Amino acid sequence: MSAERVRVELGERSYDVLIGPGLLAQAGGRIADVISGRCLAIVTDENVAALHLQPLLVSLKAAGFKAKEIVVPAGESSKSFGQLQKVVDAILEARVERGDGVVALGGGVVGDLAGLAASIARRGMALIQIPTTLLAQVDSSVGGKTGINSRFGKNLVGAFHQPTLVLADTDTLDTLPPREFAAGYAEVAKAALIGDSDFFEWLEANEEKIFAGGSERIRAIKKSVAFKARTVAADERETGERALLNLGHTFAHALEAACGFDATRLVHGEAVAIGLVLAHDFSVAEDLAPAADADRARAHLKAAGLPVRIADIHGQPLSAEELLGHIAQDKKVKRGRLTFILTRGVGKAFIANDVSPERVREFLQRQTTA
Ligand SMILES: NC(=O)c1ccc[n+]([C@@H]2O[C@H](COP(=O)([O-])OP(=O)(O)OC[C@H]3O[C@@H](n4cnc5c(N)ncnc54)[C@H](O)[C@@H]3O)[C@@H](O)[C@H]2O)c1
Ligand SMILES: [Zn+2]
Repeated sequence: MSAERVRVELGERSYDVLIGPGLLAQAGGRIADVISGRCLAIVTDENVAALHLQPLLVSLKAAGFKAKEIVVPAGESSKSFGQLQKVVDAILEARVERGDGVVALGGGVVGDLAGLAASIARRGMALIQIPTTLLAQVDSSVGGKTGINSRFGKNLVGAFHQPTLVLADTDTLDTLPPREFAAGYAEVAKAALIGDSDFFEWLEANEEKIFAGGSERIRAIKKSVAFKARTVAADERETGERALLNLGHTFAHALEAACGFDATRLVHGEAVAIGLVLAHDFSVAEDLAPAADADRARAHLKAAGLPVRIADIHGQPLSAEELLGHIAQDKKVKRGRLTFILTRGVGKAFIANDVSPERVREFLQRQTTA
């Protein structure tokens, strides 16, 4: 079966995202088509290395590549200065040169970390993304945002560095824990909720098939990638409409921070699911959107097995004040007003620059005591 292809149009930095089964085994030939060098640094995490590294190495070798493996611990804590330094050192030690490339094989954590390493090692090297989580295939591997976390917050250290090629091998999703698949699905639903009500309707009708695998899954990934590609092509550096991709994310990041980035309580995609519902409910509370649309968003995410309320997070209850503290630290605060992505209904997200922190406080107080 030939792969589906989405082109990210960015002038001379344009690139293809290929989506489909069997792409790991074709990686060598596909990468040889886009880079001149014959040496690759493969950054991956322990889980993915055990499951998917071998077939990639075989394919690279067959295409004449020399490959150096760099394996980091799995999990968000690898998006750190310490791991960044290790990865950059390993790239330099392996004498991977300009013209050669860095391959990110894994989820969004590996993609963000390896991407940042590729952007700074030798002042910038080619980056090939091979995303292995649904979240990374539909969202983080496309668009060029890379980064690590700082003690001041998530993703605060980073760079824009577009990949040269993205290979989304949908077979790799078969080994993904169901919880991680559902988490990635939140970003699929996000794409539809932001700007494509027909896509959302199609998701409502096909959710079970997407979870089961097969052609609907590939179609859902392709539609999400195409949506992201269009958005990024229109506003690569997020001076305007790319910010819409943050729908649900101001709330999500506050929830993640309040849980101390503890993956046993909440992973990013789960936080996004709750954040999406909160963004819709807040929009309804502000008389911007019909309640029926918020209900649709909630029902759909819930049917996917995702948490949809703050109270769905187990452990110590989260307080409105604490969440507001994290939101206020967010970079989108201007002269005492907050910038949120809000919605007028399914597929109609917009940038609201003038949200009153007081209204958000009242809203969150209702949500945390409900
Ligand atoms: N750069 C961007 O534009 C962007 C966009 C969205 C999210 N992100 C970032 O992405 C990160 C989240 O990414 P994620 O959800 O992919 O998390 P992740 O990379 O931590 O992967 C989740 C878990 O799945 C495991 N895993 C990965 N692929 C697997 C496979 N095929 N089979 C079995 N296990 C597998 C990983 O080892 C990990 O334990 C966050 O740090 C977030 O900030 C970045
Ligand atoms: Zn996200």
